[in-house]
Amino acid sequence: MITAKLQATALAHPNIAFIKYWGNHDDQLRLPLTGSLSMALDGLDTVTRVSFDPDLAADRFILNGMEQSGAALNRVVSFLDHVRRLAGLNRFAQVESTSNYPSGAGIASSAAAFAALALAASRAAGLELSEADLSRLARLGSGSACRSVPGGYAEWLPGSGDADSYAVQIAPPEHWDLVDLIVVVDRGEKAVSSSAGHKLAATSPLQALRIAGVPERLEQCRTAILKRDFERLAQVVELDSEWMHAVMRTSTPPLYYWTPVTEVVLWNVRAWRAQGHAVCATVDAGPNVHVIALAEDAAWAEAQLRALPGVLEVLKAKPGGGARIIDFSL
Ligand code: PMV
Repeated sequence: MITAKLQATALAHPNIAFIKYWGNHDDQLRLPLTGSLSMALDGLDTVTRVSFDPDLAADRFILNGMEQSGAALNRVVSFLDHVRRLAGLNRFAQVESTSNYPSGAGIASSAAAFAALALAASRAAGLELSEADLSRLARLGSGSACRSVPGGYAEWLPGSGDADSYAVQIAPPEHWDLVDLIVVVDRGEKAVSSSAGHKLAATSPLQALRIAGVPERLEQCRTAILKRDFERLAQVVELDSEWMHAVMRTSTPPLYYWTPVTEVVLWNVRAWRAQGHAVCATVDAGPNVHVIALAEDAAWAEAQLRALPGVLEVLKAKPGGGARIIDFSL
């Protein structure tokens, strides 16, 4: 009988979707209606340690030094149940997670959180999962987390069921020197979580049209990345973001995530590109804007963004790698 703590620590980055995931055909298993494509964000780190400890009487979840309860704890407990089932393990765990980027900065922290948790918990439980299986596992915690497992430029292959719905890396981080300038215009927690938002997507009359165009946009985006064609990338990234927000705004009830400052940033980014600067913009389920720039335009764009009225902060991230173990002890 093993009595020692089974422990592992993993690091993962969040990711920004260039082609968005919005809507599931199975909310429980988080099986998406379409594929999606993203870039992992280097330097924004979530580090998670999991210890399956025979002395624990219940799971514990400590986030940035604060003991969690309620919905946050329950989401982690349900996730640990998947890992326990896979490993045939019957022990509670302590999960400690810290991030070096501010929560409420408009960065989908659940992607990094569940990618790191999937890796740390599976290793701590004695499992050596393939990248695809780890991506599938992370998906059960948060859909976009499956793309943070391979990292780099990653595409989530929607598949038809649990077995074939996972993400693969289409290009490593060093393939293309893009920069994500994360423009914080509001630090508040979003009113409607993405988990709730996915459930509303089907109520929009535009969702079917959006979905119909995704294969073409995925193809454009993949080609733009593989050929390092910024103008092509800019067109498709902005179009896809607009489609998702059009669906959000026409759902019942409607979801309005933008503030007037969001519009100001988007308006300026379009103007700067028209003047010849390699910048484009995309917005996730919140008001903050991700400005994607070629490395050589990033310093100029960052200075312009900081000077816009209403901009609170600009964070900077290069393409990042996948989820990895940073310490492992049995
Ligand atoms: O993984 P979730 O359930 O937090 O959904 C993410 C949804 C978006 O960030 C808006 C789009 C995406 O593909 O990341």
